[in-house]
Amino acid sequence: MNILVTGGAGYIGSHTCVELLNAGYDIVVLDNLSNSCEKALDVVREITGRDFPFYKVDMLDINEMEKVFKENKIDSVIHFAGLKAVGESTQIPVRYYHNNITGTLNLLMLMEKYDVNNIVFSSSATVYGMPETVPITEDFPLSTTNPYGSTKLMIENILTDTVKANPKLSAALLRYFNPIGAHKSGKMGEDPKGIPNNLLPYIAQVAVGKLKELSVYGNDYDTADGTGVRDYIHVVDLALGHLKTVEHCTGKPGVHIYNLGTGKGYSVLEMVEAFKKASGHDIPYKITGRRPGDIAECYANAKKAEKELGWKAQRGIEEMCEDSWRWQKNNPDGYMTSAE
Ligand code: NAD
Ligand code: UFG
Repeated sequence: MNILVTGGAGYIGSHTCVELLNAGYDIVVLDNLSNSCEKALDVVREITGRDFPFYKVDMLDINEMEKVFKENKIDSVIHFAGLKAVGESTQIPVRYYHNNITGTLNLLMLMEKYDVNNIVFSSSATVYGMPETVPITEDFPLSTTNPYGSTKLMIENILTDTVKANPKLSAALLRYFNPIGAHKSGKMGEDPKGIPNNLLPYIAQVAVGKLKELSVYGNDYDTADGTGVRDYIHVVDLALGHLKTVEHCTGKPGVHIYNLGTGKGYSVLEMVEAFKKASGHDIPYKITGRRPGDIAECYANAKKAEKELGWKAQRGIEEMCEDSWRWQKNNPDGYMTSAE
């Protein structure tokens, strides 16, 4: 089976490419490298010992994207490409809607034209908005609190409507919780541009000495230690979730919705402690005010994926922090480190 991976040079995409190649699938990668670099794909080739075509294409350019479909027989698509920073999406919403929605519409038009009937979409726990209780199951009410989240929910709706109109189409909507960690080799990991927005890359850069201290956004939440609780999931477990989804959903028309999380929540301070242990470095922090839009607790009930896909996250918090640290320590400047 030949799988088109959009956004395959990115953090989750590159880890998924490794697992797909290792499992024997053929892949074609498409990415405009707006938030990634081609070096990540060289590492995918190095780790797997396998080659694949790469197209540096912007999904907003439908003519360029059509070349990918003309030159390759695609059986299935895993659609990671998109802009993903919550804060930035509130500042440049039109760019977020245009990139994420128009890019997806272009993809769907080409899939229809070339009779490609399987898609796996990167959705997010953000579509649950401010959940009233935890753990979160797939049938919780959906809402969003920022333009990024709205693009995810809109794409879920677009895919659902497209499935209704096309009885051959299979669309899997994977709602990721908080991916962290890195490939065991220490050669592949998250490479945020500028100062990280997310907790783990921020902590890692404090540990390596690039940033002075962590700001903990609030310790007055209704949680055990007052800091925010999230469901951190190892990026390799997440990648394997895509593999199981492809195995289970390909050729099965309909909408297939799964939470991909561990089912367990950790607080900000627990993550600081875990990373301190994994890295052997102190993580200085100060408590600051809450970040607007943050919720107290968010963690998955991931039983549906376990029951139907036969997938369960295997890697614990220690391994997640150890792997993040190995990548950060070996590559203090991300992929640029070895390019210098
Ligand atoms: P990432 O930024 O590392 O990867 C996304 C890739 O898409 C990048 O390589 C970028 O260059 C590419 N891209 C963006 N717009 C494009 C366009 N118009 N044409 C072609 N390529 C384009 O992000 P990631 O963390 O790997 O996330 C992958 C997907 O998972 C995204 O859709 C994201 O919204 C979703 N997601 C991520 C998280 C998270 O915390 N990382 C959580 C939930 C959902
Ligand atoms: N936090 C800090 N300091 C920081 C960064 C984060 O205290 O410098 C705290 C946050 O307040 C929150 C927790 O750490 O309690 C996790 O924050 P992240 O920014 O790492 O992750 P979020 O849960 O806010 O959001 C992430 C992605 C979203 C996605 C969501 C659910 O950024 O895109 O997970 O999947 F929608």
